[in-house]
Amino acid sequence: MKIAFIGGGNMGEAMLAAILEDGLAKPGSIQVGDVSPARLEHLQQKYGVSVKKSNPEAISGKDIVVLAVKPQNLPGVMAELNGRLKSAQLVISIIAGARIDTLSGGLKHGAIVRAMPNTPAQIGQGMSVWTATAGVTAEQKGLAGAILGSMGRELYVDDEGYLDMATAVSGSGPAYFFLMVESLVDAAVEIGLPRDMAKEMVLQTMLGSGRFIQASGEEPAELRRKVTSPGGTTAEALLRLEKGEFPRLIGEAVKAAYDRARKLGG
Ligand SMILES: NC(=O)c1ccc[n+]([C@@H]2O[C@H](COP(=O)([O-])OP(=O)(O)OC[C@H]3O[C@@H](n4cnc5c(N)ncnc54)[C@H](OP(=O)(O)O)[C@@H]3O)[C@@H](O)[C@H]2O)c1
Repeated sequence: MKIAFIGGGNMGEAMLAAILEDGLAKPGSIQVGDVSPARLEHLQQKYGVSVKKSNPEAISGKDIVVLAVKPQNLPGVMAELNGRLKSAQLVISIIAGARIDTLSGGLKHGAIVRAMPNTPAQIGQGMSVWTATAGVTAEQKGLAGAILGSMGRELYVDDEGYLDMATAVSGSGPAYFFLMVESLVDAAVEIGLPRDMAKEMVLQTMLGSGRFIQASGEEPAELRRKVTSPGGTTAEALLRLEKGEFPRLIGEAVKAAYDRARKLGG
């Protein structure tokens, strides 16, 4: 499989590294196009991939073209690649908010996968939600699933509307989690724990609880009830969280992110 990356920044590198690690492509069949000579040198040195300053040259002869530039650089990239893609080439865009209509119009191309990964993809623990145009073949869908799956979990949806929802849930989700970790560590320090101890306890508790939900197959609410004895310490804390309308706040936060995602996508 021959792959071109347009944009070899954080996400481009994460994807490239995961593809190589899973053996989906060899370094010699990957070419990166990026405007930053420092990025190109770094990727060439670290992974042995080929690099090109020219995007049209980078995409030539490739089976898959991954678009991994920032949203503000997309119009320029589309202008450069417009009309240069062959119909058998698959474009995979991970650009937040870039709609399929925009991509297919701007590139004059029919075979497009639009994906929404998240930052844990950088350590192979990502969640990528993706959809494809009717012009994408079953074989290309298989390749897209394997590429996105190399960075963690992947979930195909047949309606692009789910991508904006995924943006608000799994895309922005890591930031909600980081805020929760920060708040819990600060609270632990407030009651007297040294910060390094607090950090270790909080992180392992969060990771362990997430894995516990996954492994047990039980509903989170059921697991919560099981650790909440009447009149106990957990009950006291949960009462405060519910009084402060924690669940409603989370709902409002996700709704705000969803509204913003739809607005940014146009
Ligand atoms: N980070 C995430 O967790 C995440 C999650 C979901 C989706 N995404 C999406 O992934 C995309 C990439 O994000 P990122 O964090 O990897 O960004 P990034 O680190 O800034 O990488 C983008 C790279 O593209 C280069 N570039 C700029 N203009 C270019 C052009 N015309 N042709 C070729 N390369 C060009 C940039 O160079 P310069 O720095 O010199 O401009 C940079 O090296 C974004 O659209 C973002 O919405 C990211």
